[in-house]
Amino acid sequence: MRIVEVGPRDGLQNEKAPVPTDVKLRFIARLAEAGLKEIEATSFVSPKWVPQLGDAAELWPQLPPGPLYSALVPNQKGLARAIEVGVKRIALFTAASDAFTQKNINMTVDASLEVFRQVIASFRGAGIPPADQWMRAYVSTAFECPYAGRIEPGRVAEVANRLFEMGVDEVSLGDTIGVAAPVEVFRLADALDSRRKSQIAWHFHDTHGTGIANVSAALDLGYTAFDSSAAGFGGCPYAPGAGGNLATEDLVYFLERTGMPTGVDVDRMARASEEVLAVLGRAPTAKSQLAALAA
Ligand code: HMG
Ligand code: MG
Repeated sequence: MRIVEVGPRDGLQNEKAPVPTDVKLRFIARLAEAGLKEIEATSFVSPKWVPQLGDAAELWPQLPPGPLYSALVPNQKGLARAIEVGVKRIALFTAASDAFTQKNINMTVDASLEVFRQVIASFRGAGIPPADQWMRAYVSTAFECPYAGRIEPGRVAEVANRLFEMGVDEVSLGDTIGVAAPVEVFRLADALDSRRKSQIAWHFHDTHGTGIANVSAALDLGYTAFDSSAAGFGGCPYAPGAGGNLATEDLVYFLERTGMPTGVDVDRMARASEEVLAVLGRAPTAKSQLAALAA
């Protein structure tokens, strides 16, 4: 079972109140102490587009040792900034909907794949030891786009297959606005290349409370990698209506209770986001976090 913690990146990117770099670093250290082994720490996107993560180059060299860290990279400029500070695991991002990529990265899906082709070549040629290199690609709006409506599973599979052909190690399928129900997970899985099952992660947002039901559906189908965010932080600045990510606390509770060990300490996990919540002036809302804090 793999959990990819995206709180420091997806969780914070949409927050208007600045979260100081040292608070982010303590947040990440607590996530590591809780037992999370893969953490998406930040984004090397344009700071004009996402000011909250404008401190990526300052944050990266100070990350506490332990977990495998990755960072979002949109283009060659982002890659150059990331490589300069030692990033070895990158996450590219596109979508199944042109309407969404236009708003999010100012290009069509096809144009983004062309940019990625060049970014992948630069990344693979950057002198990072092959065993340390890792590249995921997100396909956002895998079920529905806030601008173009419902998305056909075949379209998502087509974009995922093109990314695999370009050599990415993993594709993460994003329910960007958190609307899907389990039947849609089954339908999408039907359209995917079943030989790639171990290279697919599911990235659920929990706007309508269907996140855990969707995890359960994907588990039944044999998938074992899920993205989630501490305290359920999150949302995409270019996806109106997106609620928070599936909360890591809820995911960990569900997996452990199902008999699937996660290596994450529930109490430490529940406390990991306390300082960020205080900076944002917000109370916890994730159900399993509230239950752990009350115990
Ligand atoms: P653009 O404005 O079209 O870019 O933005 P450009 O190439 O025309 O450059 C404009 C300016 O930005 C130039 O500077 C560039 O140098 C600079 P100027 O000459 O004006 O001073 N620039 C950069 N600076 C720093 N780092 C860079 C960079 N690139 C250009 N990497 C761009 C295109 C892709 C850059 C922009 O649209 C962008 O940064 N978008 C990111 C939006 C974002 O981060 N969205 C959230 C992440 S996606 C998500 O949350 C979904 C996900 O969680 C999965 C799911 O839930 O579905 C992954
Ligand atoms: Mg997301």
